[in-house]
Amino acid sequence: MTTSFDFTGRTALVTGAASGLGLAMARALSKSGARLVLFDLDGDGLAKAAAELNLIRPDSMTPFTGSITDQSAVKAACDLAVELGGGLDIVMNNAGIAGNAPSLDLEESVWRNAVDVNLTGTFLMAQAAGRVMAANGGGSIINTASMYGVVAAPERAAYCATKAAVVALTKVLAIEWADRNIRVNAIGPGYVRTALTETLVEQGRLDLDALNARVPAGRLGTPEEIATAALFLASDASAYVTGQTLVADGGWSSYSYL
Ligand SMILES: NC(=O)c1ccc[n+]([C@@H]2O[C@H](COP(=O)([O-])OP(=O)(O)OC[C@H]3O[C@@H](n4cnc5c(N)ncnc54)[C@H](O)[C@@H]3O)[C@@H](O)[C@H]2O)c1
Repeated sequence: MTTSFDFTGRTALVTGAASGLGLAMARALSKSGARLVLFDLDGDGLAKAAAELNLIRPDSMTPFTGSITDQSAVKAACDLAVELGGGLDIVMNNAGIAGNAPSLDLEESVWRNAVDVNLTGTFLMAQAAGRVMAANGGGSIINTASMYGVVAAPERAAYCATKAAVVALTKVLAIEWADRNIRVNAIGPGYVRTALTETLVEQGRLDLDALNARVPAGRLGTPEEIATAALFLASDASAYVTGQTLVADGGWSSYSYL
């Protein structure tokens, strides 16, 4: 897949960059010329990702191991991006977890963890990035929500509630920070084949044949297709777009026939 975005001279930070959608976003940003800080909990996965991406553009990747739920870590990662590139232009605020279970059985700890990572972590990273961007003339933040922030499915109370909160958070930050030249948008992926969905398939919580039959596009999305939609939101091509959630789901959330 080719993209025509040019991020030469820009510095981006991607969370959840060791795997799945975050890794695809990092790859796409790198191919488009950006310098990157890759942020993830998984230090080994990050080292592998950075090694792969440094082959695309040598010495353009810096891994940072930490949790988006740790305020000091997210601040340090944003400061590192500024040190490396002189500013922080783009944040793909992407790390997230599932936490799916029937609501009658959902453990309090699973619920709290999903809120902590998907909502509080997303806010803390956006806040830290927003502070840096406000001091440096602006930037673009792209939160990863989900089509399940817009429509619902059973056994996903924690996931749907936290992703809907990310959609709302995106609107609030966008209107607060528009006058500081900071755009805040969200991407709302449908089903995409990544480690997260593989785990749900292994747990018997996802039926791939049923998903392919349900989605109007007839197939799951690819991480690259989500990454290029996120790149549009990061780029100047979307300069007048803020507060929006771009749902990239092969038509899933528009379809309500059978
Ligand atoms: N895969 C899909 O079908 C799909 C659909 C809609 C939305 N999403 C969203 O896309 C995002 C990425 O999902 P994915 O499918 O690539 O998942 P994934 O599990 O492949 O990757 C998630 C990455 O985030 C990291 N991570 C988890 N918790 C973290 C934390 N507290 N701090 C820092 N890093 C952390 C993990 O180590 C992992 O590398 C998530 O927000 C997810 O909810 C995915």
